[in-house]
Amino acid sequence: MINVSLLDLVVGVSGALDYVSQTVTGHHRRVAVSCIPMAREIGIDSCSYTDLLIAALLHDIGAFSLDLDLNALDFDADLTEHSVAGYRLLKGHPALLRAAQIIRNHHTPWHELQTRHEEADSEMLLLSNIVNLMDRVDILSKVGARAFTRDKIRDIIGNYSPLFYNEQAIEAFMDVSASPAFWESVRDETIQMREMADGLFNDRHIPEEQLIDFSRLFSYVIDFRSRHTATHSQGVAETATQLAKLAGMDEAETLRMRLAGNLHDIGKIALPLSLLDKPGKLKPIEFNHVQHHVQVGEQILKSISGLGEISDWACQHHERLNGKGYPYGLKEEALSLGSRIMAVADVYTAITEDRPYREGMTPEEARSVMTSLSKSRSLDSDIVGLLLDNFDELNAVRTIAQAKALRDFKMFRNASQDILT
Ligand SMILES: [Fe+2]
Ligand SMILES: [Fe+2]
Ligand SMILES: [Fe+2]
Repeated sequence: MINVSLLDLVVGVSGALDYVSQTVTGHHRRVAVSCIPMAREIGIDSCSYTDLLIAALLHDIGAFSLDLDLNALDFDADLTEHSVAGYRLLKGHPALLRAAQIIRNHHTPWHELQTRHEEADSEMLLLSNIVNLMDRVDILSKVGARAFTRDKIRDIIGNYSPLFYNEQAIEAFMDVSASPAFWESVRDETIQMREMADGLFNDRHIPEEQLIDFSRLFSYVIDFRSRHTATHSQGVAETATQLAKLAGMDEAETLRMRLAGNLHDIGKIALPLSLLDKPGKLKPIEFNHVQHHVQVGEQILKSISGLGEISDWACQHHERLNGKGYPYGLKEEALSLGSRIMAVADVYTAITEDRPYREGMTPEEARSVMTSLSKSRSLDSDIVGLLLDNFDELNAVRTIAQAKALRDFKMFRNASQDILT
């Protein structure tokens, strides 16, 4: 039984966003921490704190999937694209719908929000504006050439036109930011979201089937950055699930394998697109960088308590039975059935996919590569045997799963290009 809380999951994914660039390190967490005193000051119903926290923790998630340069996300630019992309990524899950709606408008000026009569949820519009304002405050105070002092930030925000920010929100900021404690809580890197959210966050444990939906959604955040990776996690998850069934895992374990497959490459969020999409052979230093995705993934998944063996299955997908894998060079005695299945599913899916530097292999070529990897004791020969014995069936379900992911990817990209429709 997996026992994962919504808060832990969202904080874990928000932490993953920190790996993308130094500009955003801690940004989502700081915005979330500062939104709560604002909501209290304004008198927002505490039932909405959960949605506000989730929205603040994930507000720029759309920028990652569109691979926008976060350094360039300036307030003079059109920021609708990543706001709408974040909304489209998260809205599919009922527990994230309201947070998605808040994210959709997190750069929309207040006067524009006032014209959205069709959106009857006026509190949600105010929550968007709070995230917008606190995002602005954090950008103004970020370390570097553009950092402003607290007094200067108060001066800038206090003079903002109510066309941009809700008047009540500006007043609330002037009140809460008068206290040094506000700034210290925002700056305190040791502050734990769990301590802060305690009593505010309507936390709950997520049923396993819902967790699958969450994990697929987060696999899209990582995979949709590039056409070459857009369907990878779904192919791995489907293959791992089918192999788990064939290897005799029960229903609950099989579900966990799908979850691990969805999350196995979560560390790739830390890789620049130039490496993922490089059309030639990687230089040794670049290869080291790519290998590092496993350790980043491990840090992210281990920070989400309750995942148990799922993190090991996900994080050991590049380990090899003969000890020649990475990152730890584990040998067969240390590799569980789940980790062995994940390795086979990952290699098999990867070699059948088109990459910038080569076309995907034909089924015959893939069979022969898998056979030789089993002979060299890179991959478990029993699992590879299951794959080869059931090849046509497995190949068909993997193809269907990846075709669905490709449709979702195209819809996401097209919708993002056509954001005003
Ligand atoms: Fe943003
Ligand atoms: Fe990987
Ligand atoms: Fe992978």
